[in-house]
Amino acid sequence: MISPSAFVDLCVKELELCGVHEGETVAVLSQGDERLDYTTAFMAAADRLGAKSFHVRLGEMSTSVGGETGVWTVGTTPLAGNRAAIEALKQADIVIDTIFLLFSKEQMEIQESGTRILLCMEPVDNLARMFPSKDLRRRVEYGEHLLKQAKTLRFTNEYGTDVTYQLGAYPVMTQYGYTDTPGRWDHWPSGFVFTGGADDGVDGKVVIAPGDVLLPFKKYAEDPIEITIEKGRIQDIRGEGIDAALLNDYIEGFNDEKARGISHIGWGLMKEARWSSLATDTRSIQMETRSFYGNVLFSTGPNQELGGSNDTACHIDIPMRNCSLYLDDEPIVVNGDIVVDEMR
Ligand SMILES: [Fe+2]
Repeated sequence: MISPSAFVDLCVKELELCGVHEGETVAVLSQGDERLDYTTAFMAAADRLGAKSFHVRLGEMSTSVGGETGVWTVGTTPLAGNRAAIEALKQADIVIDTIFLLFSKEQMEIQESGTRILLCMEPVDNLARMFPSKDLRRRVEYGEHLLKQAKTLRFTNEYGTDVTYQLGAYPVMTQYGYTDTPGRWDHWPSGFVFTGGADDGVDGKVVIAPGDVLLPFKKYAEDPIEITIEKGRIQDIRGEGIDAALLNDYIEGFNDEKARGISHIGWGLMKEARWSSLATDTRSIQMETRSFYGNVLFSTGPNQELGGSNDTACHIDIPMRNCSLYLDDEPIVVNGDIVVDEMR
């Protein structure tokens, strides 16, 4: 367990990594009664660093992003339409988001004003155990450097995955758990690098293997699921087991052609993150399984986070084990292990 004062100490270290200093303003965004202890800790930490702070607390609550209840939708938040709150947040140097603004227009607008955003909503013990480091940033940024040069990304696994993404249409994004760059977003804790394929430039087959993680379902796949992708759209999802049926029914529930789009693609680099963590701990939104070292993070749905036009609320992330990933035919991940020394 972590005491409230130890949590403040942790937030001080985190804000230091984020470059918060005397004269800066830290805003914390919360909703309803959720995570008020996070607000208290971050404001105390800001105070200790000589920064000013304020709290924007929204009366409305968004639907669960934890995947426990209802549908895990992205892009629509209670900040939408709240002009006064948006303007206040844009005045801060950094916003601590405890409600999940990712994929929303409001997040884009705040970032464009030069305000950096740190998402923080995972359980406190996860924040401590997967605390970011400059070394993680260095390794993630090396991945960014490789991805930026690549024209194609291909990944495979022994279950028959063989899919190719045409790169270059979208920027490369990094997540290493803190942000000291104006206008940049990050999520504490996380550790991976990703980009998106061209809208009509993803083709092949992805076969989810038993043990791969289905998010937001928060379950390990039990049977292979074969996903056929043509020109950046899911054509077909099939499999003998319940998981393929589950995935099909979930996507169909959105009644949205754009739900069949392909979202970000990349790989995990965080050594503290464990693939098995979901077996005993379902509290979080699972940044841990998205981040574990050597996973290939395949995802479907929206790409407006990358600047694309697909704004569907149906987003599925699938961290996959034991894959091999190639950039322009150069191996980056082989059977779930990073093979580039600079990222090891
Ligand atoms: Fe995602």
